[in-house]
Amino acid sequence: MERVAASLQGKIMSAAQAARLIRTGMTLGMSGFTIVGYPKAVPQALAESGHARDLTLCIGASVGDELDGALVRAGLVARRYSYQSNGDMRDAINRGTVGYNDMHVSQFPLFVNQGVGPKIDVAVVECAAVTGEGLIPTAAVGCMDAVVRAADRVIVEVNETLPPAFAGMHDLFEIGLPPHARPLNITAPDSRIGTPYLPCPPEKLAAIVLTDREDQPAKFKAVTPISKQVGDNVVRFLRGEVAAGRLPETLGPIQSGVGSVGNAVLQSLSAGGFRGLTMYTEVMQDAALRLIEQGVFDRVSASAVSLEAETRRHFYAHIDEFRDKIVLRPQEISNHPEVIRRLGVIALNTPIEADIYGNVNSTHIMGSQIMNGIGGSGDFTRNARVSIFATESTARGGRISCIVPMVSHVDHTEHDVQVVVTEQGVADLRWKTPRERAELLIENCAHPDYRPLLRRYFARAQRVAPGQHTPHDLDAAFSWHRRYLETGSMKE
Ligand code: COA
Repeated sequence: MERVAASLQGKIMSAAQAARLIRTGMTLGMSGFTIVGYPKAVPQALAESGHARDLTLCIGASVGDELDGALVRAGLVARRYSYQSNGDMRDAINRGTVGYNDMHVSQFPLFVNQGVGPKIDVAVVECAAVTGEGLIPTAAVGCMDAVVRAADRVIVEVNETLPPAFAGMHDLFEIGLPPHARPLNITAPDSRIGTPYLPCPPEKLAAIVLTDREDQPAKFKAVTPISKQVGDNVVRFLRGEVAAGRLPETLGPIQSGVGSVGNAVLQSLSAGGFRGLTMYTEVMQDAALRLIEQGVFDRVSASAVSLEAETRRHFYAHIDEFRDKIVLRPQEISNHPEVIRRLGVIALNTPIEADIYGNVNSTHIMGSQIMNGIGGSGDFTRNARVSIFATESTARGGRISCIVPMVSHVDHTEHDVQVVVTEQGVADLRWKTPRERAELLIENCAHPDYRPLLRRYFARAQRVAPGQHTPHDLDAAFSWHRRYLETGSMKE
């Protein structure tokens, strides 16, 4: 396959020339999802020249340092949408110098499609090839379809290091706008409903830049005895659901969240004896690729494949074998509530903290500091057949309890959180009253160091609260967070 169709070769130019199409105050829509498939050469050229300032970046999820890091360090970014995880971008947001609005992964492209938010002036997207029919995406689709459709002009970085054999792995489908939005006829994770390329009118293509810069590889913390125990407890819970006849032996499509804990939990599925499972998820990480090879996963639907360096080399070398097993979709579809509800997805996400009544904080440290963002955790949790939050019971060397009296920020309410799992055990919160949930979370999930403190809080809350449905001691509800900020530990 030729990288750039003959009819489009006249549009090839350098990254510096393409960057000149971007001017101060513009809104840019960019590809990239979970640090995969993001443009690198044009953002670096922008950072070097510094000619375009006050930029608004609309990106479906996290991207590499060559984009978020470089542009924010050059002082060119005014606002950033949506999920991010770059250290310098996070610091700028927490300093208040960059504006950030954290949206659900499925809703961000919906807003772009509907013209909510600023008009996208230029889309800058990375692709494996540009054919006469359209764009062949990379290992990430994300929101590139939405930003390409919405933008006045499109700059494409064609990455010549990517295997051309990516062609055929993607499924692009335009849902359209309500009230005429098209139904998604996805009845299994590997259903294909669209085209393997993203249509893009040639007249929109303002520049094509040839690049050879690889994505930054993903980095996951090694599985520890504690994170393995978290995963084993998730598997024990799922095994129990199968034994009780509430889930089939093949469970239902699994969604697994970003990060090291999600990666560790998936690894436990293999030892749990499950085979022939599927995934309907937003990001496929290292463990999932290995589980395909072990026969644990049969088919995977995702919006991106985010891998460590060695696993990525393996994936690219064997892409022909993986192409029939993996479908890559726009984030609007990988995370669409209609499909998640119909397929009966089992959602596995990681909280920062959960409170004794089952509310979950996924995004903020000590109530004020953004970590990454809500990502797709809300899309999946709210619509899943079973929604599970799995975490180690403590953080920062035991100085923080991940089970607290009241979460310092709420992303997922008690109405959506069904099961909480730590290395200590499982709290199945379904059909439980708030006070029953508190007992389960304290006795089954909290670390033994924090259980007496939580029991004391709960007992006092029942004495002083004006109501007994969800008793809280409002004077003490955030005292654990305050203590951590003052002393560096939640322990007394
Ligand atoms: N208080 C303060 N810090 C906490 C914490 C808490 N209660 N719980 C975790 N952390 C910190 C850890 O100490 C760690 O910091 P470090 O990197 O400086 O060591 C960091 O958060 C990441 O935690 P880790 O235990 O390594 O887990 P992870 O890599 O699995 O990430 C989340 C956990 C919550 C940050 C991550 O899953 C996330 O961003 N989730 C929100 C988005 C989401 O759920 N998407 C799912 C759909 S893909």
